[in-house]
Amino acid sequence: MILVTGGAGFIGANFILDWLDCSDEPVVNLDKLTYAGNLGNLASLKRDSRHIFVRGDIGDRDLVLSLLNEHRPRAIVNFAAESHVDRSIHGPADFIATNIVGTFALLDAVRAYWTALAGDERTHFRFVHISTDEVYGSLEPGAPSFAETNSYAPNSPYSASKASADHLVRAYHHTYGLPTLTTNCSNNYGPRQFPEKLIPLMLHNGLAGKPLPIYGDGGNVRDWLYVGDHCAAIRTVLERGAPGETYNVGGNAEITNLNLVRTLCRVLGELKPGCDAESRITFVRDRAGHDRRYAIDASKIRRELGWEPRETFESGIARTVRWYLDNAAWLAAVTSGEYQKWISLNYAAEVV
Ligand code: NAD
Ligand code: DAU
Repeated sequence: MILVTGGAGFIGANFILDWLDCSDEPVVNLDKLTYAGNLGNLASLKRDSRHIFVRGDIGDRDLVLSLLNEHRPRAIVNFAAESHVDRSIHGPADFIATNIVGTFALLDAVRAYWTALAGDERTHFRFVHISTDEVYGSLEPGAPSFAETNSYAPNSPYSASKASADHLVRAYHHTYGLPTLTTNCSNNYGPRQFPEKLIPLMLHNGLAGKPLPIYGDGGNVRDWLYVGDHCAAIRTVLERGAPGETYNVGGNAEITNLNLVRTLCRVLGELKPGCDAESRITFVRDRAGHDRRYAIDASKIRRELGWEPRETFESGIARTVRWYLDNAAWLAAVTSGEYQKWISLNYAAEVV
């Protein structure tokens, strides 16, 4: 079996659902269930004995070690993190606690477990750490995409905390020989993404008749990847990646925020006639320290491991919009209560 952390969040839940679609190998899912963790994402696995859910913190070394000794996984996939840049600007402390200190505790427990393994179990064990392209900083227009050899230059408390975690993972490989692999992926989108992030926020506001808040001039560029393609890349790295290596993962789909939101509005209008979201696009105060452009050079994982995305940007966006239209109850459940407090904190009350 494998141990997944943060498996009730957006990418982790998609990963577990895809994993159990492809194989019968059980998954232990360790998740703290922060505001971003949602067992509703895994409702279809409620009676599936291949999914074992444990509520807990990756920073709890004793809990992690006892789970490892009880379930004896052959691999760890570490998704658990605080993941939203704007929240890291309002309150960095949780990002330091989970992304840095928590990753350290997790690594240390895994090292103790792995050190005690012998033979094939020890040789084939893997620790896959899920990171982000934001560790590389911001690109000028026309500059080459981020390669694995780029220097780290994180600009937000979020990206700095992820960069720190990546360095710890690297050090545990270099110093102790722990068989770690790191993926640095671009912006994901798809089903089950919490509507604090650009695409689901715009879909939610578009459907609710609210303004669509674009930071700054809308000219910031991101490189988008459908979440199912990211999950396939992680499975590939787990099975065929070389310990100690890092792999950049991206969709080769650079687009400005403004053009992306216009595309979303067009697809919404096609699938839900009468929904005129584009007229509600509203420019708002820019994010502090807003990175201008991210772009990933995914040639290493393509060349060495044979992975490439299956969805185009157009097909992925259409699937995503359809999922949000078909899952109105999911969206309603995650946008009640605490969510409204976040919206009031991050956006001027008159805008959203
Ligand atoms: P998310 O915020 O949707 O989910 C994070 C999950 O981790 C939640 O279920 C939460 O409850 C859990 N969690 C948080 N702190 C925890 C702790 N201390 N112990 C155990 N569980 C904890 O995040 P996501 O978008 O699914 O991102 C998953 C990972 O992928 C993160 O490491 C993120 O940095 C990385 N990543 C995300 C993207 C993206 O576009 N979303 C792109 C590249 C990399
Ligand atoms: O690049 C990978 C990263 O992508 C991941 O590591 C992060 O976990 C993930 O949150 C994402 O970070 P971004 O900051 O790029 O994603 P977000 O969806 O928050 O914003 C995307 C772009 O849209 C960014 O330029 C900011 C802008 N934006 C965002 C929001 C929420 C807006 O213009 N308006 C908004 O309301």
